[in-house]
Amino acid sequence: MMSAAPFASFVPAESPVADLGRRAHCARTAALAALCEADPAAKAAAARALYAAVLAGGVACAADLELDEPAGLPGRPARPELVDPRHLKRRSMQSPQGRAVLLHALAHIEFNAINLALDAVWRFAGMPTAFYTDWLKVAAEEAYHFSLLAVRLAEYGHVYGDFPAHDGLWDMCERTRGDVLARMALVPRTLEARGLDASPPIRARLLQAGDQASAAILDVILRDEIGHVLIGNRWFRHLCDASGLDPHPTYTRLADQYHAPKLRGPFNFDARRDAGFDEAELAELAALAGLDAPDATPPATAD
Ligand SMILES: [Fe+2]
Ligand SMILES: [Fe+2]
Repeated sequence: MMSAAPFASFVPAESPVADLGRRAHCARTAALAALCEADPAAKAAAARALYAAVLAGGVACAADLELDEPAGLPGRPARPELVDPRHLKRRSMQSPQGRAVLLHALAHIEFNAINLALDAVWRFAGMPTAFYTDWLKVAAEEAYHFSLLAVRLAEYGHVYGDFPAHDGLWDMCERTRGDVLARMALVPRTLEARGLDASPPIRARLLQAGDQASAAILDVILRDEIGHVLIGNRWFRHLCDASGLDPHPTYTRLADQYHAPKLRGPFNFDARRDAGFDEAELAELAALAGLDAPDATPPATAD
């Protein structure tokens, strides 16, 4: 195993990690460096710079490189305080403070999502180059989402870290650290897909409270998240095909084995269909929600 030390050699301590995309020789090594970065703004800048550098052809992905895991992943700031989810209070969207708490919770999800995407890049050796490029794209988009929410949070007079948060997303990352198939099944196809379901009701509550600017950010996030879940579906199926596994029973087995959260409706069937879930999976979700199978044909229009 190659030690993690090499990435330190081309990211000198005095250099902003945002420059690492230009300095790194291997995008997977640079992704690990960005994952170690504790400052959220610097991490977000590093993720975006790295993807831009890969697209520009300035940084390659060494698929066969085996990197040792450094202690203390992921890099994160001292705040927010991480607490048991049961200790997080729900607040009304009607008050500015309630909306600030919601925006903070969304920013925390996006901060974790940057970490999850970077982790997929450095941790899993031996995947096709497109796997790494896909997850670097996701990391860059999560960084953009985090930045949009941080700006909106500032307009409410707050910064990321002002309110407590929970650590459920990184927890699933840890549980699936040794199994790329389980990671694809349970992070993008389960946790990120839950975000597709959660988005419309949150957006409606923001609009009801008159906060069009925050609702517009949710539109950007939902559009991109469909792409992230699609990437998860793509690689889950690729890995199933490569091992001769049937995706449906394999997903059920992995959800059970890794104690994935139970799926609960309402489901965003249109977004899930766009994100690559097949009709059998959508029908299974419909049954869970006590509905008939969702209609795949678009409704006829008068004109
Ligand atoms: Fe996101
Ligand atoms: Fe995402």
